[in-house]
Amino acid sequence: MDTSTAQKIASLIEASKKIIVFTGAGISTNSGIMDFRSENGLYNFVNERYELPYPEALFELDYFAKNPTPFFEIAKMMLSQDVRPSLCHEFIAWLEAQQKVSLTVTQNIDMLHQRAGSKRVVECHGTFQTARCFSCSSPYSLKDVEANVMGGEIPRCDCGGVIKPNIVFFGEAMPETFMKLLFNPPAADLILVLGTSLQVQPSSQFALDIASRAPSVCVSLAPTPYDRRMTHVIHEDLDEFAAAIWDRLNKH
Ligand code: OAD
Repeated sequence: MDTSTAQKIASLIEASKKIIVFTGAGISTNSGIMDFRSENGLYNFVNERYELPYPEALFELDYFAKNPTPFFEIAKMMLSQDVRPSLCHEFIAWLEAQQKVSLTVTQNIDMLHQRAGSKRVVECHGTFQTARCFSCSSPYSLKDVEANVMGGEIPRCDCGGVIKPNIVFFGEAMPETFMKLLFNPPAADLILVLGTSLQVQPSSQFALDIASRAPSVCVSLAPTPYDRRMTHVIHEDLDEFAAAIWDRLNKH
């Protein structure tokens, strides 16, 4: 990022009181979590490891109903990772504490925004913290299923059905809190779109709607299909971006 762009973005943040942050898996790669669509992302990883019809089948209900094993093996891998928030997660939490960020909407299920200290977070692709029976819908918590998943077993309900974590699969309803935001977009004087390929709907539509009404900053190593709709586009590592802007804001 050149100095003049960094200065413009820092000035935009300084002038803002209602920043919406929209994040994807790219914000957590510096914490050691794979993103999905990069060369070394989860979809290439599962493609080499399992005989899936296509990588996204890992998160599809029809495939899960037939063969939940790949999903639970990946869930075990995710749950056993000891991860910490990245500098960029901490930067967002700091911006919230400075009364700059009014809401963070994340597609991630890693809880790293909350662990960094962000309070106003909406997880639009659901959560691992709760689960429900795929057959009878009985509710469970992560604690109920964790030992099974970590032991390489498929967690089962008293009725015999498979217990599925409440992360949103393709074809499933999105959380109601997110749908309300999608249909009644919050006021925003700036949107930061961080570490997402913007390829999954309707989540990406939420960010694009706001970007059509407010200045926007999109940071991603790879270009997104919507770069032309953004005010500032930075193809750079998010921790480097966060460090550069944080430094400028601290100097003022
Ligand atoms: P993707 O993997 O599609 O996109 C991640 C983006 O972050 C890419 O554009 C990368 O170039 C960029 N990136 C990776 N590391 C970065 C870094 N250190 N600094 C800057 N940019 C970086 O991930 P998402 O957009 O989050 O949904 O994917 C959206 C949804 O697709 C996920 O929530 C998941 C998946 O299918 C479900 O499973 C329902």
